[in-house]
Amino acid sequence: MKKAKGFVSVLLAVLMLFTAMLPAYASDITTEEIAEETTVQEEITSEAKDDTDAATDDIALEEQWADTEEAKRGINVNPGRDNSERNFSWYMGADITSCSVEISEKEDMSDAEVFTGEAITTYQGDKAAKVTVTGLLDNKTYYYTCVSGEEKSEVYSFKTDDGTFSALYMSDIHVYDDPNDETSLKSTAFDFAKLIRNAGEKADLSLILAGGDMATEGQRVEFEGLTFSKESRDLTFAHIMGNHDRHSFDYKYFKNLPNEMFGPMAGYQSGNYYFEKSGVLFICIDTNNASAQAHRSTVKEAVKNHPDAKWRVVMMHHDLYGGSIPHREGECNLLRILFSPLFDEFNIDLVLMGHSHHYSVSNILYNGEITEAIENGKTVKNAKGTVYFVSTSIGRPEEDSEINYSDKVAIGMEKLTDSYYNILDFSPDALKVTSYYLDTNEEYISFTLTKDDDYEREKIGFFRKLGGILAGYLSTVYGIYVNADRYFDLKEEGYTGVGFFEFVF
Ligand SMILES: [Fe+2]
Repeated sequence: MKKAKGFVSVLLAVLMLFTAMLPAYASDITTEEIAEETTVQEEITSEAKDDTDAATDDIALEEQWADTEEAKRGINVNPGRDNSERNFSWYMGADITSCSVEISEKEDMSDAEVFTGEAITTYQGDKAAKVTVTGLLDNKTYYYTCVSGEEKSEVYSFKTDDGTFSALYMSDIHVYDDPNDETSLKSTAFDFAKLIRNAGEKADLSLILAGGDMATEGQRVEFEGLTFSKESRDLTFAHIMGNHDRHSFDYKYFKNLPNEMFGPMAGYQSGNYYFEKSGVLFICIDTNNASAQAHRSTVKEAVKNHPDAKWRVVMMHHDLYGGSIPHREGECNLLRILFSPLFDEFNIDLVLMGHSHHYSVSNILYNGEITEAIENGKTVKNAKGTVYFVSTSIGRPEEDSEINYSDKVAIGMEKLTDSYYNILDFSPDALKVTSYYLDTNEEYISFTLTKDDDYEREKIGFFRKLGGILAGYLSTVYGIYVNADRYFDLKEEGYTGVGFFEFVF
């Protein structure tokens, strides 16, 4: 009887356990199924929301483009000398003589501070406003409106930071007003606005860096297209002139650059310039000017005025290591001889370039030799040398399939028809570069440079420095020839007031 009782107890216990487990198991299945169903629903909802957001953003772009008076102001927010300043430039009517920027921390523009500037007469006969805003504080969002006489633009905004920020880098945007295709200006301008929007979803951007060839024919309508969108006007925009930007004479009136340095060999429209932002020294050199000596003066002055900047970044148009087209390799070789001693001497961490339309990232180079390899995903600590980085074209993807890359190149050039944009994340101890496919916004590669207290700047050898200086002077002679040639081209095209050679011829 005892045994029977015991058996019944065990049976009951097993049944109870089974009964207890059964709903739990059934419930687990249901929960998983529900979770899966929910995820699918969320993905569908999210995709639908993305589609709706994109459609809304596209409508917003269409509206901005259709408002031609506002779109054609060409509002361009350039960096100031440092975080506390911004330089503004835009176009105004011929009869307008005064210009100002109103700045407020509030979107309704209450308590706005007013900064007045200068109205310059363009070669077309109307005006370009140049205004510098000063006294900006770190970590703020500022709202602004550009005032032409009595007329105010829409309200836009920009951000300041202190030590950590993200920048969008790309080159050869090529906004193009093709005389044989009336849709080209709008489509290339929209492509750039959408690119800024997509990049803005990857990082909290506060700066655009553009490595030249923003405008295919250097025409004012192309620069207006570059800056028609709110996407562009809500960011600080640092650009350097490419060879295409000087096809006309409009870049001169489009920009308002800080610390701009005009030597006799500078182009007729623009000079080198530099600015400091949250511990990063950006030095922008116009390589249409062949004089490496002129560029050495700029880099030297920039470094002297910002000795404590943790990172030194050069941006220029022509590339040193991006030549995958055999006939361009000669030019790349020449530019390496002219410029790389300069980057060694002043310990430049990263050189941003374009021109070839081919993507490439070099290994860490010093004195023309690899000091450390770069690989996708790699972090290099206290690098001894410079990374040379060439970004692809945005508006003119390269279709050429010839490959002749240098052994100094670490990444890129094998995917010749893909285009990319790049996010540079700066912090006091790290500089991370991430490249994304232009068409899918998926990540392509990334690499990171870091510095700690053991970092020491390399000291250039005597002969390397001397070679660089001699090459600098020789290239200045070549620069005179190139500038004179360009001067006569511009004169022939009817442009006047084009600079140094005006006094000679
Ligand atoms: Fe280009």
